[in-house]
Amino acid sequence: MRTLIQHSKGRTSPQAHRDIGDLKDDELTRGGFDGREAVLYRREDPTVFKATGRFRSTAADLHDIVPSDMTDADGGPQRLYYNAHATIWLSRRSKTMPFVQRNVDGDECWFVHEGRGIVETEFGPLSFEPGDYVVIPKAITHRWVIESESTLLFGIETVGEQRAPTYVGLGRHAPFDPDTIRVPDPSTVAPSTGGVEMRVKYDSEYSTLKLENHPFDVEGWKGDYFPFTFNVRDWNVIMSDSLHLPPSMHVFLVAEGVNIINLLPRPFESIEGTERIPWYHRNADYDEIAFIHGGESLGRPLHKGLVSHDPQGINHGFPERARDKSRREWDDHSRITWQIIMIETILPLKLDEVLQAAVMDD
Ligand SMILES: [Fe+2]
Repeated sequence: MRTLIQHSKGRTSPQAHRDIGDLKDDELTRGGFDGREAVLYRREDPTVFKATGRFRSTAADLHDIVPSDMTDADGGPQRLYYNAHATIWLSRRSKTMPFVQRNVDGDECWFVHEGRGIVETEFGPLSFEPGDYVVIPKAITHRWVIESESTLLFGIETVGEQRAPTYVGLGRHAPFDPDTIRVPDPSTVAPSTGGVEMRVKYDSEYSTLKLENHPFDVEGWKGDYFPFTFNVRDWNVIMSDSLHLPPSMHVFLVAEGVNIINLLPRPFESIEGTERIPWYHRNADYDEIAFIHGGESLGRPLHKGLVSHDPQGINHGFPERARDKSRREWDDHSRITWQIIMIETILPLKLDEVLQAAVMDD
């Protein structure tokens, strides 16, 4: 909710997140980064604390988790986080599915961190490579065909329908041109005849259907409901030269209670005095998940495959030493090349016990 009531008390900067001097700016914000907010100008770093109990930030390297689909073609992905709106999955499928599948619990959006192949669908095949999102809406029959030795796929399943938000004021071609969405053409190869096994996820339980006719026998399709892929290299980052824009500027897809966001390479802000590194913050209404695909920040490579969770309302942010470094090395870095997939969820996320076992100390 926007309001015209705003107050400034004590030492502040006229322009938020700029020219803050020796103070530490700590943003407390509602509605993600799009609602009412307060910036608190602190003397010290608010993220230095020891937590006991569930209200704590955690991180894990997804290379340390072995879903059953990594070693068994018949296996499945590993659940990482969940709430009533969303489930976040890890797949490391190394062999092609010997079955087709249909998820009637929700829409699936998979980010390809590692691996290549084809997702065969009723609508036709879609190739995938690192940096792709593969979006498979609810109830579409499909099969993952793997063409690399290994994969690492980060999946977001939502009960609500995944759709692009309205990019107010940006026109039809920003932050991505709809022509860069890849949509399947019907397969020109007739599928094999004979029985096909279809695995269906319904109310979190799996059933098996023996299909007499192959579901990938579609010769044509039309409509506005289809699977698609999109590569993050085709995303146009919206930015300001004098203000580090918040994640809400970079939303790719939304579903009920969930935002899927890209933080991607771009020039650093160049107006001196601007804070280039995300400030300390409390996202009061959303849990945050960040998955690092790659890139670097201030000359330091980011930890590929790391996933982190920050509960809503917890103080977090880049460490003070990164903030100092960004000011000290202002002229040494002209770009930030991070590639981070971020998910915001309105409902608190629970950590699966397999993920909990992989959580790194500090
Ligand atoms: Fe955050």
